[in-house]
Amino acid sequence: MKTCGRHSYWQQTSVVRQVAFTLLVFLINLLSAHTDNSSDIAKLQTEWHGPGTTLDLKEIILGRCYNYIRTINPALNYVNCTNVWEAFQNVFVNKDPCDIKKEDYSDFMELTRHPIPCGMSVFWSKTNKLVHDYARVIAHYMTLEQTLYGYLADKLKWCGKIHGEGIDYKSCPTRKQCSNNPLSSFWSQASKTFAGEACGNVTLMLNGSVGGGAFREDSLLATVEIPNLNKDNVTLVQIWVMDDVTGIDRESCGQGSIVRLESLLKEKQIPYSCMDNYRPVHFLQCAEHPDSPSCK
Ligand SMILES: *[C@@H]1O[C@H](CO)[C@@H](O)[C@H](O)[C@H]1NC(C)=O
Ligand SMILES: *[C@@H]1O[C@H](CO)[C@@H](O)[C@H](O)[C@H]1NC(C)=O
Ligand SMILES: *[C@@H]1O[C@H](CO)[C@@H](O)[C@H](O)[C@H]1NC(C)=O
Ligand SMILES: *[C@@H]1O[C@H](CO)[C@@H](O)[C@H](O)[C@H]1NC(C)=O
Ligand SMILES: *[C@@H]1O[C@H](CO)[C@@H](O)[C@H](O)[C@H]1NC(C)=O
Repeated sequence: MKTCGRHSYWQQTSVVRQVAFTLLVFLINLLSAHTDNSSDIAKLQTEWHGPGTTLDLKEIILGRCYNYIRTINPALNYVNCTNVWEAFQNVFVNKDPCDIKKEDYSDFMELTRHPIPCGMSVFWSKTNKLVHDYARVIAHYMTLEQTLYGYLADKLKWCGKIHGEGIDYKSCPTRKQCSNNPLSSFWSQASKTFAGEACGNVTLMLNGSVGGGAFREDSLLATVEIPNLNKDNVTLVQIWVMDDVTGIDRESCGQGSIVRLESLLKEKQIPYSCMDNYRPVHFLQCAEHPDSPSCK
């Protein structure tokens, strides 16, 4: 009994040892396979949720730059577009796309900033199409997207990759994934510059039909533009609350989130006026939707 028991004990342990050894070898292989290929891991980490860099980014920015200084606003013909592209790409190429601060764009902004004639600045939130339709028709209005710095970046996407991999054309981080991403920081810095340059009567076009408030606390308007208006240079903020020509009236002057905007301007001691469905802009809406009830 004793010898027999001992015999089976030794048999059992050698089987256990063999299994354990095989398992160990398997585990080591598995681990080394994973740690050896760090580029695989880096790749997994940089699958962002936002769209990747716009293809031909450099050509687009250089082309837009020359178009702006040669045809749109030749007064800026002193701008060196090569230097503008260099300053722009220095901010994000080969950089961690979650570690781009708005101050990183200060060289780029210095090369592209320009004064905006008093009374021309138009700010907006959630009225992108209407405000630009209007600014195209009325030549003496200018939005951020019509300044050189805003025009260069309008509708483009861009971000970099670490480990010397340059530009990420596959995906870029969204604001939810990290707030210090190349786009958010750019528009924050550009908005700050644009608001700081504003003087005279400035205009603010809001959306009276949008859910979640015409003046949202987390918008660039609330967080960057209003705080950076210079009260010594801005004589009046004229607020236009535009409802959808076919849609509903959710907010108007003196109501809802617009109360908050009005009190911010009071705090800053900047005079303001507010108009619902400013007629010249409404006419433009009616030009596009002549059959809607509010246009009859
Ligand atoms: C590491 O990943 C790269 C890119 O996916 C691949 O080309 C390379 O063959 C991999 N190397 C090893 C050792 O698996
Ligand atoms: C732009 O600046 C670069 C140096 O940064 C210079 O080599 C180039 O000649 C300049 N271009 C023009 C058109 O002045
Ligand atoms: C208001 O916002 C909604 C939703 O984003 C949009 O469809 C509508 O065109 C906007 N209205 C105006 C006047 O810009
Ligand atoms: C405000 O106006 C003054 C004088 O009109 C000018 O010197 C100053 O640069 C302006 N400030 C800004 C930020 O535009
Ligand atoms: C600014 O707006 C006020 C009020 O509408 C108007 O009286 C004034 O003439 C405007 N100033 C300029 C320079 O347009």
